[in-house]
Amino acid sequence: MILNSSYKKGNYERLYSKYIFKDVDKLLILAKVTKNKSLLDLGAGTGAVSKIAWKRGVRNITAIEKHKAMLDNISLKIEKVYSSVEDFVPMKKYDIAICRQAINYMDLEKVDEVVHKALKKRGVFVFNSFVNKPLFNIKSYSFNNVRYFEFSTSFGKTVFHVQASKLGIDLTKFSYYNKEDFSIFNKRFSVRRMVEGNSVYYICRKR
Ligand SMILES: C[S@@+](CC[C@H](N)C(=O)[O-])C[C@H]1O[C@@H](n2cnc3c(N)ncnc32)[C@H](O)[C@@H]1O
Repeated sequence: MILNSSYKKGNYERLYSKYIFKDVDKLLILAKVTKNKSLLDLGAGTGAVSKIAWKRGVRNITAIEKHKAMLDNISLKIEKVYSSVEDFVPMKKYDIAICRQAINYMDLEKVDEVVHKALKKRGVFVFNSFVNKPLFNIKSYSFNNVRYFEFSTSFGKTVFHVQASKLGIDLTKFSYYNKEDFSIFNKRFSVRRMVEGNSVYYICRKR
């Protein structure tokens, strides 16, 4: 079975082009990213968060990503760490950590530990996820004259997603996490949760 195939082939940006920069600004605003802040981009992918933060003048950026082909898309002069977030050992402290469209691939307990270690006191961790577990969702849309098809379904806590167009096909799987699952962050962070449609945003401030 091919899983996370777009990461290996490097065609992620084409298959997901409609979504590639969606909401990045929102996460940067929620995290109060400014030029002088240091930023950890968790599950950085092809660098949507790092790239927009760089455009806003942020220079102290570390991007962590486990698929080399994804991270190699970033040509900015930032620190790139080829690792899973769970295995990352922070060598310095950061003001902000952002995890966009990636937390559902990760082990929350380990993320909690790593981010807590990596952030300065009062540092902020912002991530997004989705509210409703897909039972059987089918969608089709056109973007830049290309027709795309999306299909998502779930078995227990595991969500399977198919993304297809004439540019290729991607089958990916990740976990569905609900409010209780994310409550793990309440222990060591002051957490604010914001729901907008099927998206949920968490703003976690280290105590
Ligand atoms: C949907 S992409 C989002 C990428 C990027 N954050 C963005 O906003 O475009 C999810 C990314 O998380 C990465 N990823 C998944 N699990 C990971 C882990 N445990 N540690 C580091 N990266 C991970 C995948 O390789 C993929 O690049």
